[in-house]
Amino acid sequence: MSAPGRDFATEKRKAQMDEKPDPADDPERLAALHDYQVLDTPREAAFDTLVELAARICAVPVAVINLVESRRQWFKAELGLGVRETPIDVSICRHFLLRPGLTVVPDTLRDERLCCNPLVTADDGLRFYAGCLLQTADGHAIGTLCVLDRRPRDLDADQRFALRALADQVMAQLELRRTLRQKSRLLERHELLIREVNHRTKNNLQLISSIISLQLRSIDDPAARAALLDTGSRIRSIAAVHEQLYRADQVGAVDLGTFLQALAPGLQSSAPHGVTLTVEAAPVPVPLDTAVPVALMVNEFVTNALKYAYGEGTGGPVRVVLRTVGGRVELVVRDHGRGLPADFDLRRSRSLGMRIILSLAGQIDAAVVIGNADPGTECRVSFGAAVPSA
Ligand SMILES: Nc1ncnc2c1ncn2[C@@H]1O[C@H](COP(=O)(O)OP(=O)(O)O)[C@@H](O)[C@H]1O
Ligand SMILES: [Mg+2]
Repeated sequence: MSAPGRDFATEKRKAQMDEKPDPADDPERLAALHDYQVLDTPREAAFDTLVELAARICAVPVAVINLVESRRQWFKAELGLGVRETPIDVSICRHFLLRPGLTVVPDTLRDERLCCNPLVTADDGLRFYAGCLLQTADGHAIGTLCVLDRRPRDLDADQRFALRALADQVMAQLELRRTLRQKSRLLERHELLIREVNHRTKNNLQLISSIISLQLRSIDDPAARAALLDTGSRIRSIAAVHEQLYRADQVGAVDLGTFLQALAPGLQSSAPHGVTLTVEAAPVPVPLDTAVPVALMVNEFVTNALKYAYGEGTGGPVRVVLRTVGGRVELVVRDHGRGLPADFDLRRSRSLGMRIILSLAGQIDAAVVIGNADPGTECRVSFGAAVPSA
């Protein structure tokens, strides 16, 4: 309830118009301070060292990196005070937010702004103050690096120079942290985008697979059907790599082991009756440029084994093994079937599968050997080291 005859709202507005705005409350200044995201963070050695240096060089018991908010001052680093913040009304620094550079008050009791401050008037109060403004590149004062003593005194030219230089270092540390934070935000966005692209690539490849399946319905010619089925299978292998890529922890890298394990159920479901597929794969992270060729080679080896190793009505194992041996990655696909035709020659073969295998091996500088294994066929690929895991 307001007292009759008084208009408190108008009185308050008039009082506000008479007062100079408090620089501590300047919203732009506060926004600049908050942009560093430093308030209420833990102590850090880099800042602790800077206040210790300031105290030693100026030979004072108290030194503080003081960040001035509107209702409190908060200390990123502090020596000799034993607290991390105080209310704004006892702040000494707030009076000097509009004074660029260094402010020295040799005797605080003789300064009209400070002589009533309880930190000054207390027994053993703070009688000497020197503070260098912490200023952003666009001129906002966010606080001070200040040194204090319990007796009146002064700083010599070297001490003044050092205090300014240390204040610059405080700002440099704050800027560095902010830049790193911005960079890591950018990196996160970039990684998200790559995952998104891999996701879309996978979806588009699946779409192509579906179109091929639809097309198969209207084709009767066995050779054309076989070619389309092979193409569909190759496209599904590439799609599977992109599926792993957007799920992976490490952007741009695929764990071939996880990839092969994930591929196994699909391949098994297309295996003829009696043929069992097993995958033994150690974790092997590789970049995308390696993953796609390897995936396609596995597809060629396994589809061949499923197609040719065992005759109608018979069956047996098809084993896929992935491991690292002496810094190289080794992939083996082995069956126990009828073995390769007598005239088989990998290098001279004109068949599409073998030409694809040789061209992919060339892309990743891999050695390929396809030979009889008694019983059956063994396809062996080895290539250079995997990417180190993150
Ligand atoms: N695991 C295997 N067992 C028996 N024969 C195989 C095996 N892998 C490949 N071959 C033989 O090698 C030939 C060439 O294979 P490939 O180039 O993949 O051609 P395609 O699969 O189109 O016939 C096959 O036609 C087949 O005779
Ligand atoms: Mg083939």
